[in-house]
Amino acid sequence: MENKRLIAPSILSADFADLKNQIKLIEKADLIHCDVMDGHFVPNLTFGMKMVEDLKKFAARPLDVHLMISNPEKYIKRFIDAGADFLTFHIEAANDIDTCLDMIKQAKIKGGIAISPDTDINLITRYIDKCDIVVLMSVYPGFGGQKFIEKSLQRLTALKKIKDKINPSCLIQVDGGVTKQNAKTIFDHGADILVAGNAVFGATDPNKAIEELKNQN
Ligand code: DX5
Ligand code: ZN
Repeated sequence: MENKRLIAPSILSADFADLKNQIKLIEKADLIHCDVMDGHFVPNLTFGMKMVEDLKKFAARPLDVHLMISNPEKYIKRFIDAGADFLTFHIEAANDIDTCLDMIKQAKIKGGIAISPDTDINLITRYIDKCDIVVLMSVYPGFGGQKFIEKSLQRLTALKKIKDKINPSCLIQVDGGVTKQNAKTIFDHGADILVAGNAVFGATDPNKAIEELKNQN
């Protein structure tokens, strides 16, 4: 199946004190990526449900909430109620992965698993039939503006094989270190959605940056 080529700017690289205006700058975005960090699963803190709820009131695109938190099962329902359209949690952080996926499925939103760079990609095999999306981390979760880890391309190829075999409609999202220079290669390896923080909000024209990420030859 032909992969989609979507861009999800991460607001982690936006000005939190001016989010309403910052989101107006990315009308060409396909999804709005919201990085939730708890200072426990990752060594950084961002925001919680209230932010998602408030963004939902004016965001013109679906909210793609990436939970980098321990015990995601405790908060999944609250992020769904806050208005997440996509909700992903880390395979390394969940105590009961099936229960998390079932909670998301029941709410009829899109959901799935995020996997960190050092976690065996084959662990996804058991769960991918229940996933609408898998987030392949191409940096260690916790911070924006890091360098793309090159071995992620091999991991992406392996993940694409798993999904094509078991659940071809599952979307693959690649998150971390995406730039104008590597976007095409990552799409060509099978990614459907690229998350881009710095590459979008660090650009003078964020909309133009989104178009450039989509249309590299
Ligand atoms: C990292 C986050 C990413 C990050 C991407 O923990 O999950 O979404 O914001 O930022 P860039 O594109 O700057 O690497
Ligand atoms: Zn993210």
